[in-house]
Amino acid sequence: MAIVGLTDAGDNHLPHHVKSRAIDDEAAAADYCLKGVRHLSDAGITRLPGRYVLPASDRPGASVCISSPGSARVKLPVVDLARLRVPTERAAVLSTIYTACRDYGFFQVVNHGVDSEAIAGMLDVAARFFELPFPERARHMSPDVRAPVRYGTSFNQANDAVLCWRDFLKLSCVPTVEDVVPSWPDSPADLREVAAAYAEASRRVFVEVVEAALEALGIGDGEDGVMEELATAGSQMMTVNCYPACPQPELTLGMPPHSDYGFFTLVLQDDVEGLQVMHDGEWFTVDPVPGSFVVNVGDHFEIYSNGRYKSVLHRVRVNSTRPRISVASFHSVGTERVVGPAAELVDEERGGEARRYMDTDFATFLAYLASAEGKHKNFLQSRRLA
Ligand code: OGA
Ligand code: NI
Repeated sequence: MAIVGLTDAGDNHLPHHVKSRAIDDEAAAADYCLKGVRHLSDAGITRLPGRYVLPASDRPGASVCISSPGSARVKLPVVDLARLRVPTERAAVLSTIYTACRDYGFFQVVNHGVDSEAIAGMLDVAARFFELPFPERARHMSPDVRAPVRYGTSFNQANDAVLCWRDFLKLSCVPTVEDVVPSWPDSPADLREVAAAYAEASRRVFVEVVEAALEALGIGDGEDGVMEELATAGSQMMTVNCYPACPQPELTLGMPPHSDYGFFTLVLQDDVEGLQVMHDGEWFTVDPVPGSFVVNVGDHFEIYSNGRYKSVLHRVRVNSTRPRISVASFHSVGTERVVGPAAELVDEERGGEARRYMDTDFATFLAYLASAEGKHKNFLQSRRLA
């Protein structure tokens, strides 16, 4: 129950006005957390409210100081798009993509052709959005997961027993960016223009990378027209994440372990580390490479590749000194389309392998998120065939 959490850890660390509200009015106290972590951090709290404290087994570990050598780092495979475009080098890059998707579910993309001003501009306008006064940000709060713009906090607010140290702005890009941009926030004044240009650039990189990843699977265009759909009628959602400095980062997470739902996610992170990926049963911190995109396989691609590519668990750690901004762009097929293993891989008449996943669609995913099981953040597991 919300209020227990807030007052539990409560001792004397909440600012007086928060604490007295928590005690006087339970609804108002719960509401205070739901205003998000930027709001809490701006209020100058020095200890973490109980609603954010994870059970000991789920905590990220003791050393979260960002300069600490304590946590293991991973150098993800690097995919150079300039080389991908050179005919004599394409095969080698396809092989890198294939092994990265199989062994890590993650890679970094460099030489992607998106200019550095568009990237810096996106991170900058994102930071300025979260600096707006709370009522300005709150105009975009919505319980409707299909709203074209949605400001909120935590991971899956309706289900999270423990809240996450993250605020977010979700910008839908369907049916097209052009169609929805008028409903995106008009403050900061340049947000629409900068975020729309960034969304288009991210989509172009996605199309190039997914085309290569399909080619690496030996599928090419796909008999089912999947590449055509991804390129022309796919779905895209952008999430701008804000992880303020956190008073007790060892007790909480910016995002819990989860996998992403689509084909690929492109993540732009600023120079503050925080993203961790699960590899060989351990968490590794992804080194931010300035100007690159972190790309990860989502559930739909694991299903479509019949398990050759892995949608890997990842999470976000926070730290006590430096706020962090990231922009994740989720790309998949159209929301009405059913995704199952590619016929080329599982067709028995052609000696294909056994089908490892059920068909799924976006509606099933949303229903799952809204359900109790959604708490476990593992949609893919529910789609696996024995
Ligand atoms: C996500 C995600 C990572 C990050 O938005 O799904 O995993 O670094 N983000 O913010
Ligand atoms: Ni993610």
